[in-house]
Amino acid sequence: MVMNGQSAEYQNGLGIIGTSLEMQEIIQVIQNVGPTDITVLVTGESGVGKEVVAHAIHRASKRAAKPMVTVNCGAIPEGIIESELFGHEKGSFTGASEARKGYFELADEGTIFLDEIGELPLATQVKFLRILENGEFNRVGSSVPRKVDVRVIAATNKILEEEVRNRHFRQDLYYRLRSINIRIPALREHNEDIPLLFDKFAKEFSERNTIDFKGITAEAMQALMNYYWHGNVRELRNVVESLLVIEGGKNITVDIVNKYLHDYQSPATERNLPAVVAKHTEFDERQMLYRALIEIKSDIVELKTILTTAIGMNEGALLGDEMAALPGREIIHGTAHDTLSIEEMERKMIVEALQQFHGNRKLAADALKISERTLYRKIKEYGVL
Ligand SMILES: Nc1ncnc2c1ncn2[C@@H]1O[C@H](COP(=O)(O)OP(=O)(O)OP(=O)(O)O)[C@@H](O)[C@H]1O
Ligand SMILES: [Mg+2]
Repeated sequence: MVMNGQSAEYQNGLGIIGTSLEMQEIIQVIQNVGPTDITVLVTGESGVGKEVVAHAIHRASKRAAKPMVTVNCGAIPEGIIESELFGHEKGSFTGASEARKGYFELADEGTIFLDEIGELPLATQVKFLRILENGEFNRVGSSVPRKVDVRVIAATNKILEEEVRNRHFRQDLYYRLRSINIRIPALREHNEDIPLLFDKFAKEFSERNTIDFKGITAEAMQALMNYYWHGNVRELRNVVESLLVIEGGKNITVDIVNKYLHDYQSPATERNLPAVVAKHTEFDERQMLYRALIEIKSDIVELKTILTTAIGMNEGALLGDEMAALPGREIIHGTAHDTLSIEEMERKMIVEALQQFHGNRKLAADALKISERTLYRKIKEYGVL
């Protein structure tokens, strides 16, 4: 199972492992669009290799010797995102004691990789579209337009069509971005690449930790190939690391592998189901239940507020004291308690998600269907460690 001589990584020279048809097609597209300056949108679930592909595009471009600046749009607070991206002039806001270049200027002549583009605030999207159209932007606090020569690669694990439908993402920007869209399939959709990826990671970890890797049985490899891989290549990499580091120099059997796959273990037959049918773990189901409860509670609170306002307006004027005797009156004023319950539930969901994903905020945010930025804020708000 150990690869000989030239690894698949060097066969394509792009740092991308994969000989499946799906990955070969992606490598072909990278080789075609790489040398151009075309904007590329990279999409796919968490952990499929979007950042790996972005690096490969940059490496295949004529800008390879220049920097590639990576920006995680989801991790920058909304209040400072424009100054981070476009820079600012001295005195443009409190604390701006010096003029500063933004990421676009830092990436001049190179590539900018805007990760989590779906998290870009709507107001910033307009400015981003402008820079895509003609390379022009203004620093915050400046009326002088500037120009940069930057190649843009954007990535998201969100379905941007849905974001457009929900009015979280501008349609014109979406149309501009999607003209070259590299969609990386989930690992379960190209599971024939798992042995190659396993070898690459096993080699990497055994070298790094000077472990004498004794190999893996065919049955154990099959178990890896049948697994759902909710966290895709990143999750595989983590599992290989645990297997190598914890199980040391043992020959990896199916029993050993199964100890590391319990969270999302799926029966072999599941591979025949369409990819969209995800296996719901107990965790997923509890999350869905909590979320439904929170939504119902929020609706009730909203309804109560509307009713309170309506009654407040009519009270005295139309109904007089009779209203006070109406059943349900008491409930209307019970909002403080309800708000507290929602917070408690939210906190519980966050703690559980963080535990489930061993503190990985990105995966926890994905599971909770909130942005990483919202998760950071709520962790702070609730004092979750
Ligand atoms: N085709 C591949 N070949 C080699 N390594 C890969 C490949 N795909 C992913 N990886 C590895 O898997 C891990 C996750 O990849 P990456 O960070 O690019 O995923 P991502 O899609 O950007 O995830 P996220 O949505 O969470 O940001 C990294 O360690 C990366 O090196
Ligand atoms: Mg990424």
